[in-house]
Amino acid sequence: MDGYRPFIFNDDDEFFIIDQRFLPNIKEVKLNNLEDVYKAIKDMAVRGAPLIGIVAAFGYYLAVKNAKDFDELNQTSNVAYASLIATRPTAINLKWALESQKEVIKENAFLPVEKIIKKVRANAFSIYESQKRADYQMAQNAIALFDKPMRILTHCNTGSFATGGIGTALGIIKYSANKNLVKEIYVDETRPYFQGSRITAFELSDEKIDYKIVTDSACGILMQKNLVDCVIVGADRIARNGDVANKIGTYCLACLAKAHNVKFFVAAPESTIDRSFNDLSSIEIEIRDDSEILHFNGISLAPEGAKALYFAFDVTPHHLIDAIITEKTVYKPEFNL
Ligand code: MRU
Repeated sequence: MDGYRPFIFNDDDEFFIIDQRFLPNIKEVKLNNLEDVYKAIKDMAVRGAPLIGIVAAFGYYLAVKNAKDFDELNQTSNVAYASLIATRPTAINLKWALESQKEVIKENAFLPVEKIIKKVRANAFSIYESQKRADYQMAQNAIALFDKPMRILTHCNTGSFATGGIGTALGIIKYSANKNLVKEIYVDETRPYFQGSRITAFELSDEKIDYKIVTDSACGILMQKNLVDCVIVGADRIARNGDVANKIGTYCLACLAKAHNVKFFVAAPESTIDRSFNDLSSIEIEIRDDSEILHFNGISLAPEGAKALYFAFDVTPHHLIDAIITEKTVYKPEFNL
């Protein structure tokens, strides 16, 4: 059930990722330095909020590992932080992981530089391991929400390819399916990157769990025909009041769920909660290049010269959410995180 490993960082500090742009085909790519890691995150060769944070933590280590003295360590650390934080603005796990790496340097400043660097390396692994544990704990916590085998609709990819563990929302689905608590799984395609049909479907196929892919626009009729008991999605950032930023289309699903009396659940690690925001009305929503909407794998999907507007995320207001599942607990409304 652990699923595919989206990356390997070996004893020789060789860093390999699966380039997710090619899934369901497997293409392994080596990341040699900070610039490679920057591009991998920015261009979405790796994606998913927790995984972005983990990969950035290893990228940070690659950037500082050859520092000869504390000044050089500080300087390379600042460059790594500034570069990686600029890759994707919405997922808070990125900032959380980079802050954690910076803190390791600060807390251990009295040690010889080689020892600090070793601790930075160890901290990247520790961020990775704690995410894997959190995924399992979320799955166990979520069981309390299922009073019968559920018909579940999910959005985007929140599985192994998004966390390195079993996943958040998809981890819950896989775990519950193995306990016969899932009757039906609907995976929406999640245009324009197709995280649903390319990646979530790949993971479920790999685990031999039945599912059906639906187009994003079919979710309304699914609920209207009473085919869905609950929607489970992940999150890129959660405010204190329970507002959730997640993959574009999440808000539409939450509105539909409310209109059809379908439960709407969000699953995310505690590190996705950004307590510096009371609500998410002023959050920066990533706008990506419109060519990602207008083309897919080199094929034009619109006439030459067409323009598009690509918001990569949206915000689902807290009043549309029935529960937020973390590794710590299941939060219920009124949220006060
Ligand atoms: O643009 P992406 O693919 O990085 O967006 C991913 C999502 O929105 C996920 O739902 C979210 O990061 C949670 S992943 C456990």
